[in-house]
Amino acid sequence: MNKLILKLVREQTLENEELRWLLENNTVEIRRELSEKASEVAKKTFGNGVYTRGLIEFTNYCKNDCYYCGIRKSNEKVHRYRLDEEQILKCCENGYELGFKTFVLQGGEDKHFNDERMVFLVQEIKQKYPNCAITLSLGEKSRESYQKLFDAGADRYLLRHETADKCHYRKLHPQNLMLANRMTCLQNLKDIGFQVGTGFMVGSPHQTVENILADLVFIKALNPQMVGIGPFIPHQNTPFKNATPGSMEQTLQLISILRLMLPKALIPSTTALGTIDTQGRELGILAGANVVMPNLSPIEVRKDYSLYDNKICTGEEAAECRVCLDNRIASIGYQILNHRGDYPETK
Ligand code: 5AD
Ligand code: FES
Repeated sequence: MNKLILKLVREQTLENEELRWLLENNTVEIRRELSEKASEVAKKTFGNGVYTRGLIEFTNYCKNDCYYCGIRKSNEKVHRYRLDEEQILKCCENGYELGFKTFVLQGGEDKHFNDERMVFLVQEIKQKYPNCAITLSLGEKSRESYQKLFDAGADRYLLRHETADKCHYRKLHPQNLMLANRMTCLQNLKDIGFQVGTGFMVGSPHQTVENILADLVFIKALNPQMVGIGPFIPHQNTPFKNATPGSMEQTLQLISILRLMLPKALIPSTTALGTIDTQGRELGILAGANVVMPNLSPIEVRKDYSLYDNKICTGEEAAECRVCLDNRIASIGYQILNHRGDYPETK
C-alpha cells in the first residue's frame, strides 16, 4: 500500500506536496488503494448503509450567469418554470411514500421565492412531515435570510464554493459573483447551525492541480458536514459548450481523498457522475461516497432543469423507481437506509 495513502488514513490530512503527488499520479493502482481505504473508513461510520435524499428542483429561474450552468440567465433557450406550493408539496408526498426522509429543495436564485414564501414552504413541509429533514440549495443570501430559513425548520444547506481560488472563480463567474461572499455565506450558514454542504466541479474549465489543492485545503478547514463533487459537463447553450468534460477517474479519486480527509462527512455520489458513466453512481459509493439523491421533481419539468447536457433524470435512477435503486445499491453490497441520514454527530 502506498505510504502517502496510509498517512492520509492516519492523519486525515497531508502536506500540499503529498496531495499534489497523489493528484498527479492518479493511476488505476492508486485509485484502487484509495477507494479500498476510503470505503473502509466510510463503513466504520455508516456500515453498508447508503442515505437517500429526494431532490426537488422547484425553479429554474436564475438571476446569475455562471458560465458553466445551463440555467444561467443569458440562456434564452431554456423553458423557465416554477413549481407552485401545491406541486412542491405533492413532490414531498410522493417522496414520502417512496421512503424518502430528506427533501432537497434546489433552485436557481429566483426572486419570486423570497424569504416569506420560502419560510412558509419550509414550515408547511415540516408540519406535514415532522420526521423529515429539509435541505435547501438556493444560493447566496444574507445572514438574516439564512437565519429565517433555519428558524422555520430547515436543517441543511448546500452551497458549493465551486473553486477556492479567486482567479479561477473569476473565470467561471461574471464580476458580480465573488468568492469572498460565497465563503462568508458558508461561514454564516455554519454559525447559524445548518448542516452545511460545499463542493466543486471536477475538471471545470481552467481548473489546475493547484486549484484542486486549494479546494481540498479549504474544505478541510471549513469542515463541512456534506461535500458534493461531480465532473464538469459542458452545456450546449453556455460559453463553455466546447470545453472538455471532467473525468470520472479524477472524480472518483477525489471522492476517496475527501472521504479520508473528512471520515464522517455526508458525500453524495452525484447525478453528474451518473451522467458521464452508467455505473458512475455505484462506483462513487465504492470510492467512499454514502449518499444518493434521486430526482423527485415532476417528470414534465425535469428536462428543463438541465445544468449540463444529457443529465439523467427519467431512467431507472430517478426516485420513482425505488426498487431499481435498491437493487443497484444491493448489487454492490450496500443497502439504502430509510431514515433522515443526518451528519453522525448531530441529532
Ligand atoms: N456540469 C457539472 N456540474 C454543474 N453544476 C452547474 N453546472 C454544471 C455543469 N455544467 C453544478 C454546480 C452547482 C451544482 C448545483 O451543479 O457545481 O453548484
Ligand atoms: Fe444560477 Fe449559477 S447560473 S447560480
